[in-house]
Amino acid sequence: MPTVTALRRVAATRYVTPLREGGSMPGLVEADDDGLYVVKFRGAGQGPRALAAEIVAGELARALGLPVPEQVLADIDPALGRAEPDPEIQELVAASAGTNLGVDFLPGALPYAPGAGCDPTPELAADVVWLDAFTTNVDRTAQNPNLLVWHGRMWLIDHGAALYLQHAGLRPLEQARRPFPQIAEHVLLPCAGSIAEADARLAPLVDVALLEEIVGLVPVDWLAGADPADYVEYLARRLDAPRGFVEEAERARGA
Ligand SMILES: Nc1ncnc2c1ncn2[C@@H]1O[C@H](COP(=O)(O)OP(=O)(O)OP(=O)(O)O)[C@@H](O)[C@H]1O
Ligand SMILES: [Mg+2]
Repeated sequence: MPTVTALRRVAATRYVTPLREGGSMPGLVEADDDGLYVVKFRGAGQGPRALAAEIVAGELARALGLPVPEQVLADIDPALGRAEPDPEIQELVAASAGTNLGVDFLPGALPYAPGAGCDPTPELAADVVWLDAFTTNVDRTAQNPNLLVWHGRMWLIDHGAALYLQHAGLRPLEQARRPFPQIAEHVLLPCAGSIAEADARLAPLVDVALLEEIVGLVPVDWLAGADPADYVEYLARRLDAPRGFVEEAERARGA
């Protein structure tokens, strides 16, 4: 079984610059370990549960061996934004005092573009489709691939839109087996190999204990009152055989 390690905690020391291409206005931030992180702010419009999705889907990806930059808990002092000329940034930083999500910054990474010569292997593409189908991630489309190419390798970022049903409250019994037709828009479907084979590789690696450990990494206040056990149950029920999301993804692939 895969192992899960606790997230490191860093303290932000300097707000460097906003990453304006991100809808949630993430910021490039320097921390007390001399690292540079892309900070996803708890006070952004998507709400703190988007950060919970980043941890759950991102750390699940890592546990399955998929390439995800390190994620850390980043402490933000509201004073950090005071020198920023943009009032929108000042407000965002002020509204995010305390624990936020830091993602290891990959300097010089380029956005993934289909057919640009850096396509993943059919197996890796299928594994990513499987992960996104399992976690109902709606944000891996051609318009918004949320994949970076860095040092010749594809990296997965931005899992904030996974588990999207959580925003109205997860109801595992009722929702876990619902269809997820959005998988047809996945940017890697055209280059993905068999999703059934990805399922055979990955599903045996996930059990309730692993899901509990991963959901346990999420700071409780990011769940905004939701019960962490519902996240575990929702994912566990999606994983019960036969897994409709695998068939759905295979159909979308045209297999
Ligand atoms: N770890 C990283 N290393 C380098 N660049 C990154 C990293 N994380 C994010 N970026 C850059 O910042 C952009 C915005 O990040 P991200 O997609 O996580 O934010 P978002 O606000 O959730 O975006 P979206 O508009 O997709 O909702 C990315 O498209 C990418 O260009
Ligand atoms: Mg994004």
